[in-house]
Amino acid sequence: MTEQNRVVRLARRPVGLVSNDDFTIADEPIPEPGEGEFRVRIACISLDPAMRGWMNAGKSYAPPVSIGGIMRAFAAGEVEVSNHPLFKPGDKVTGLFGAQKYAISDGQGALVVDTDKAPLERWIGGFGMPGTTAYFGLIDIGRPKKGETVVVSAAAGAVGSMVGQIAKIQGARAVGIAGGPEKCRVVTEEYGFDACVDYKAGNLGGELAAACPDGIDVYFENVGGEILDTVLPLMNTFGRIPLCGLISAYSASEPLPGPKNLRSVLVNRLTVRGFVIFDFADRYEEAATALAMWAGEGRLKFREDVREGGIDAFPETLRLLYTGGNVGKLVLKV
Ligand SMILES: NC(=O)c1ccc[n+]([C@@H]2O[C@H](COP(=O)([O-])OP(=O)(O)OC[C@H]3O[C@@H](n4cnc5c(N)ncnc54)[C@H](OP(=O)(O)O)[C@@H]3O)[C@@H](O)[C@H]2O)c1
Repeated sequence: MTEQNRVVRLARRPVGLVSNDDFTIADEPIPEPGEGEFRVRIACISLDPAMRGWMNAGKSYAPPVSIGGIMRAFAAGEVEVSNHPLFKPGDKVTGLFGAQKYAISDGQGALVVDTDKAPLERWIGGFGMPGTTAYFGLIDIGRPKKGETVVVSAAAGAVGSMVGQIAKIQGARAVGIAGGPEKCRVVTEEYGFDACVDYKAGNLGGELAAACPDGIDVYFENVGGEILDTVLPLMNTFGRIPLCGLISAYSASEPLPGPKNLRSVLVNRLTVRGFVIFDFADRYEEAATALAMWAGEGRLKFREDVREGGIDAFPETLRLLYTGGNVGKLVLKV
């Protein structure tokens, strides 16, 4: 039997947590590259919380994936066939190639990466979009100063783990918030945060106040909801909140109540700024250089949570992000 492409397409707009029925997964002919294009054989697909938003209709920073369209996904693999002057067969590449086994690219947003320097998974993780997000969100928007306290939610995950480590490199104190004792152990022992609070243990407010005796100067927000409500009253005057993500709300089927403690933004003169990593596209090189340097100096630890199961495991692997089933950058081998 000749080999086929295997493709995840969006079957319908999900309600609540993503389900297998939101997708169709089927064999299709392997596509041929046209002039100025190349074909990549994908080795691993990045699972990102934003995927849930991309599946919704309505206004966002990126157009929704159309019903019947290939599910949008960052991925990494090897160029097989190329009619593109800048990409040659054998190159290892990353890009928005979609949730499938073989993709055609015109090179836009695709990058050749060096797998002698880091494994392919890391180029869609710590050295890729999540690491770059942590870098710009913290350095540009959080602007931590030496001795300040930086708190980050979803601290054991792809973005959060990098935020705390970069905060330490900047001379700040890093405190994580994560779900469960094992994740908190990883955050302090493996990533080197000063403290980590398990929000599932039932006393986030008390434990966070104890872990941040000088208050919180920067809160890097990945989660929203009750965690944001608990953090807001602990913020210091002129604190900064880079609003990176609100994962606790992504699977909600109806609008959720807004923050209860917005008064803290007023009385503490906080700066809350939402951002999307694509805003920093003209400065990716700066993040790449800094992250590579810190990693070379042994100051950054990476953890990829690589799942087996191929393309067909895409829906169940994606769900792990919204149920807290991943520790570190979630990647599906295909
Ligand atoms: N603005 C941007 O450009 C940009 C770019 C990349 C990512 N992001 C955002 O950054 C955040 C983290 O992304 P990531 O890729 O690093 O994912 P991740 O942290 O590796 O994985 C998601 C984690 O979120 C936590 N979580 C899920 N539901 C939760 C809930 N209801 N309450 C509290 N925690 C919950 C879980 O950890 P626990 O077990 O600890 O709960 C889960 O493991 C997301 O909000 C994402 O949308 C934004």
